[in-house]
Amino acid sequence: MAKPVTSFTCTACGASHRKWSGRCEACGEWNTIVEEAPLSQGPGRGLGAQRGRAIPLSGLSSTEPPPARAPSGIEELDRVLGGGLVPGSAILVGGDPGIGKSTLMLQAAAAFARRGTAAVYISGEEAGAQLRMRAQRLGLSDAPVRLGTETALRDILTTLDAERPDVAVIDSIQTLWSDTVDAAPGSVGQVRSAAHELVTFAKRSGVAVILVGHVTKEGQIAGPRVVEHMVDTVLYFEGERGHQFRILRAVKNRFGPSGEIGVFEMTGGGLSEVANPSALFLSERGEPVPGSAVFAGIEGTRPVLTEIQALVAPSTLAAPRRTVVGLDGGRVSTILAVLEARCGIPFAGLDVFLNVAGGMRVAEPAADLAVAAALLSAREDHALPAETVFFGEVSLSGALRPVAQAENRLKEAQKLGFSRAILPEVQKVEGGGGMSLARVADLTSFTGETFGA
Ligand code: TYD
Ligand code: MG
Repeated sequence: MAKPVTSFTCTACGASHRKWSGRCEACGEWNTIVEEAPLSQGPGRGLGAQRGRAIPLSGLSSTEPPPARAPSGIEELDRVLGGGLVPGSAILVGGDPGIGKSTLMLQAAAAFARRGTAAVYISGEEAGAQLRMRAQRLGLSDAPVRLGTETALRDILTTLDAERPDVAVIDSIQTLWSDTVDAAPGSVGQVRSAAHELVTFAKRSGVAVILVGHVTKEGQIAGPRVVEHMVDTVLYFEGERGHQFRILRAVKNRFGPSGEIGVFEMTGGGLSEVANPSALFLSERGEPVPGSAVFAGIEGTRPVLTEIQALVAPSTLAAPRRTVVGLDGGRVSTILAVLEARCGIPFAGLDVFLNVAGGMRVAEPAADLAVAAALLSAREDHALPAETVFFGEVSLSGALRPVAQAENRLKEAQKLGFSRAILPEVQKVEGGGGMSLARVADLTSFTGETFGA
């Protein structure tokens, strides 16, 4: 019999390796590779195996109607789920510890239960009394959710099999342990095996399973990354610790558009929905100040306006600071390089700080122009024109590229009281509402026109 092979798994990206090394070749992270116990090859493997049967695609559609989705009534959550919960689906909710995952999931379970979608919430982190206290604080004591405190996977599966709820929340995947895996709870082996069994259970039983998983930047605990491939939907709960806004983002969704976001505000009584995020993200803006540019963005199917803030100051360091919060650092470096090389505006010897107000994260390349505008405005100490929004992608040549959904961006900007948009010359706009449009071909002409350089 072949010797069982030990394998090594990266806790950051889930890639498997044949031997240990200090750095994962797949994702480039350091110290994330851990040893995983070999899968036990029980006797009888291969015996009595049944051959799979192929079904024609056309044969699938006619017999079974599409599964009905169960909405929670929390609109910001339902949107991210693609309209509601799909029976038998597996959902991963990841996020930093303390960000509010348990709070959100308890509120969601209660919302489902109140609408007649039978919900079970199983916590491996809190005792029953703690859970009841939390529910009380959130005003959910009367909701018909069934609570459990359990960490043994076998017991959880037995309970779920007996109860057969419509949805089960497992908080968290890192606390589970299965006696078939010889490893500590939270290790890659345990997390992977528990997730696999729960996902299989979901498919077999039609119970929708929501797995909560902590992510740590250091990848100390087996990150939910190893689970991402197994589930249908991956939601990340993000936010900056100091801010009260929380964003639930669909990174993957087999049953809906990915990239969709739900916005929540943290309050003493739990998370409350934010129906108009643009207004909220811009609420702290006063008179125009140097370094502030409003970006008309799109998150999923929804337009969201955010304020990009830049500060540029003389540096005393040999390698000046580049501190970026809420934006992709690589893209910011590219824009700085384009400004230097194509527009002749040097940033050498200057510290650069960039931030998206409100703790929002912006990943769209369409934000390039707003970032460039904020940087220039900060560098020249010259406020950008008021009531103006920006969007457009910057290419390496400095040319501005068109972006998707220009009309939606403009409509949202107008709704929030903006009257002017600066956008790429090549951008096709149908209609555009009552906004006045200033079109720019490339960054060089933009810097010239806006700052009289
Ligand atoms: P919690 O939901 O326990 O975070 P996680 O499960 O992601 O680790 O929330 C962390 C703390 O924040 C907890 O003490 C409750 C508090 N909190 C509020 O007071 N209001 C809120 O709206 C949220 C989301 C959390
Ligand atoms: Mg928790």
